[in-house]
Amino acid sequence: MKNTNTIPFLFLIFFSFCFSVFSQSTSNSKIREHISIDQNWVFAFGHPFDAAKDFNTGTGYFSYLAKTTYGDGAAAANFDDRSWRKLDLPHDWAVEQGFSEKASYSHGFKNIGRSFPETGIGWYRKKITVPEGDLGRRIHIAFDGVFRNTTVWFNGHYLGNNPSGYLGFEYDVTDYVNYGGENTIAVRVDAMMEEGWFYEGAGIYRHVWLNKTNPLHVPADGTFVSTTKLNKNNAELISKVSVINEGSTFQNFKIIQTVYDNAGKSIATTTIDNLNLRPMETKDFETQLKVSNPKLWSVNDPYLHKMRTTIYSGTELVDTQTTIFGIRTLRFDANEGFFLNGKYLKIKGTNNHQDHAGVGVAMPDGLQDFRIATLKSFGSNAYRCSHNPPTPELLDACDRLGMVVIDETRLMGITNVQLGELKRMMLRDRNHPSIISWSIANEEWGVEGNIIGARMARTMQDFAKTIDTTRGITAGISGNWDNGIATAVDVVGYNYIKHGGKETTDKHHREFPNLASWGTEEGSTFATRGIYFEDNEKQYKPAYDFPQSANAHSIEQGWKHYDSRAYLGGIFIWTGFDYRGEPTPYVWPATGSYFGMVDQCGFYKDDAWYLKAWWGTEPVLHLLPHWNWKGKEGQPIDVWAYSNCDEVELFLNKKSLGKKAMEKNGHLEWKVNYGPGTLEAIGYKNGKKILTETVKTTSAAAAIGLQSNAKTIKANNVDIAMITVDTKDKSGLRVPTSENEIAFTISGPGKIIGVGNGKPTSVEPDQFLETNTVINISNLKEKIVNSILETTETVDNLDISNWDNAFKDSRDTIFGKKAKAVVYRTDFDLSENFKETKINLFYNSIGQSQSIYINGKLIANDIPENQKGDTFVLDKANLRAGKNTIAIVAVPLIYKYKWGTVNTNPGTIQILTPAPAWRRTLFSGLAQIIVQSTGETGEITLTATGNGLKKAETKINATKP
Ligand code: GAL
Repeated sequence: MKNTNTIPFLFLIFFSFCFSVFSQSTSNSKIREHISIDQNWVFAFGHPFDAAKDFNTGTGYFSYLAKTTYGDGAAAANFDDRSWRKLDLPHDWAVEQGFSEKASYSHGFKNIGRSFPETGIGWYRKKITVPEGDLGRRIHIAFDGVFRNTTVWFNGHYLGNNPSGYLGFEYDVTDYVNYGGENTIAVRVDAMMEEGWFYEGAGIYRHVWLNKTNPLHVPADGTFVSTTKLNKNNAELISKVSVINEGSTFQNFKIIQTVYDNAGKSIATTTIDNLNLRPMETKDFETQLKVSNPKLWSVNDPYLHKMRTTIYSGTELVDTQTTIFGIRTLRFDANEGFFLNGKYLKIKGTNNHQDHAGVGVAMPDGLQDFRIATLKSFGSNAYRCSHNPPTPELLDACDRLGMVVIDETRLMGITNVQLGELKRMMLRDRNHPSIISWSIANEEWGVEGNIIGARMARTMQDFAKTIDTTRGITAGISGNWDNGIATAVDVVGYNYIKHGGKETTDKHHREFPNLASWGTEEGSTFATRGIYFEDNEKQYKPAYDFPQSANAHSIEQGWKHYDSRAYLGGIFIWTGFDYRGEPTPYVWPATGSYFGMVDQCGFYKDDAWYLKAWWGTEPVLHLLPHWNWKGKEGQPIDVWAYSNCDEVELFLNKKSLGKKAMEKNGHLEWKVNYGPGTLEAIGYKNGKKILTETVKTTSAAAAIGLQSNAKTIKANNVDIAMITVDTKDKSGLRVPTSENEIAFTISGPGKIIGVGNGKPTSVEPDQFLETNTVINISNLKEKIVNSILETTETVDNLDISNWDNAFKDSRDTIFGKKAKAVVYRTDFDLSENFKETKINLFYNSIGQSQSIYINGKLIANDIPENQKGDTFVLDKANLRAGKNTIAIVAVPLIYKYKWGTVNTNPGTIQILTPAPAWRRTLFSGLAQIIVQSTGETGEITLTATGNGLKKAETKINATKP
């Protein structure tokens, strides 16, 4: 147990790791390159136990674990992946699936997981070219995060496995590279197992990079400013740098570090000289820098500095790297709470998972900013990454926008597996100024209240301190605060104070006066956006701020508790955003959570207005519910006001219903007998009217509305616009109850990547995609004929029941002498809608030369053996629904030597069915669609249509990045 009163997380400064080439430094991109390889991958489902469906990977006599470079099946460099689906990363195949009751509650009933072997394994492949000039550099491929259990091969070499769905991993492939030619990355992703109890997605859902450096370089995550002193005029930075020599010669070198302000002006510099490294040796170095009159990083002014680290070998510049960091101090105090830069800061936080409506966990970077900005818009200043390390871009957004963060490891434990994950998270993230705390556990019910939990927490905390002593170590604990984990961590995390009984934090604070503490989860409400009456049939909960049960606090109750006690660092509400999965208290077909302050799209629930009133800085007056209650005329409706005004007066159709005084952190309530018209509230501050809010009864929806958060996006394949869809009545009022189905079309250099409406019971598709169906050309029969010119056996409708199964006889020289030519035949089926599809034949030679017939019609005449395969677009006029025939007349392939093999697989037929039109119903009047650049510049036009509604159009300009 800690016995210090104040935990000395004093004087910290961080600089975050950024791999990109330093813009102002050298024009020589050969120093260090950080290249995105997100574009142009191919994808196909494999299978967890059916080897044939898993491309027979790992079935070779000698496979990849037996011999290096022996990656077989889809792991092989030369595997034929022409029929696989083309896509760009990030990608989440879970979000693309439908829903069903037998799927996992935790994952929001998406059709993946243990009961869905057909969508359990995903394979990704990509070809990259590495120029000849790169020979001599170190080449790494880095994955920021894959869900989950990933195996990677490079040119058939097995690189390794990474079970975590949340941590990045990097492999050195230098020696495997085909310099000046093509290289193949193959990735097998096994998403059969869940890691958490919430939606986690599936696939390569974060970025992938190709990193090139000189042999002497700073390794990934190799920089950290671990200690700093800050007084009125100066900041002292102590910076740790690792350097590795991955070359084969002894190296003498020096390190220069320079700090720049955000205008690019150099403000401090230091050199460490006379350093050396043997081949394959790594050493850590420390430098000190002093910054005068430093601009500090804070949540209101997130000022970022840059540090350039350069390495010179003799006079030659060999590495240069930019690190973004912020200068700021932290202090957790057991009695006084939390201090940023010496100033008291009440934590007004939310917990969040990492998925968003429409795209699941495959988040474009711009969405991170959108989400953090949404949380900040209601006054939140803190974010807990529940319950896993986030994507690096989330932390970048928090650094840039000003949001402090608890970064949480996924697994509690003390073996090198769990400590290894904790270490990787800390090394990766330690330079982000936004991170103020590392969380080592969340609600580990099996151990949190006992001695084992205490021991584990102590071990993890001691271990964490070997990497970073500057942040508070915390854990989310659900009730067992007197024993176990709570007695061992720097900052006790209360998850739901009611779990510990009445007034539990005060009691605990009295008993453990030296422990800092905060609410890692608090406020637990069920709310469906825009719904104000419980409907258990529809699985809707009213959006008033009611505690979810007698054993929980509402948002208001929770915040009042934390705000009124200085010793508590603050609160993290469960949750900021709704998320997919965990639809407590409901069951199928509820697929999303009800806890959020905003829904899965980021549309405010009323609770967000409560928080904006008490967390924000602007005057707020918000009324709930909406005023469309046809059928409830004369019946009492609860009307609430969220406001930070001193007094609020409510009127219905100009008649006053009374003025009420607002209590701090409170809300106001009236019972109002419903009559259509206008509810109006007037807010007073110091006796003066300062705000008016009206809620009007609307008529039926007449027109669609589209509002884009951006008029311009970058034409870079990545940038996005978030578009809100609603309906307006004939007077232009937004209709808060409309549930119209809206269809979308898009033209110009943009594409829709996801749709959502925030409805927790929605089982509508999130995405509308082209389908890629692959038919393996199999079950061939064969007949020996006299010549490749023979056509009697290639006609349509031939009875081949007495033909032999193909390749029964080994293709040795005896067979070669016997068979001048062989006809191979088999059937394939096409569906009724085949005319709407595009059909490709990806043929692999099964003869030295061959002619191919489809339904008796010649499509390739006497073509030679081709190692790369031949591709044919099939003419639909020559195809039919039901059975079709392919016949191949070939001069057979013959083994060149005794143990040789010949290709017996003629390839695949790929059927591409165009995506259906994008559509979505509105929920409580709203839907959201996400539009992304396709890379080109120009005008994107999004059009929305709906039955009986005036259509809407919005334009977004994609401009040169
Ligand atoms: C907590 C848990 C969260 C979430 C929440 C739902 O116990 O830490 O992840 O499950 O309950 O109420």
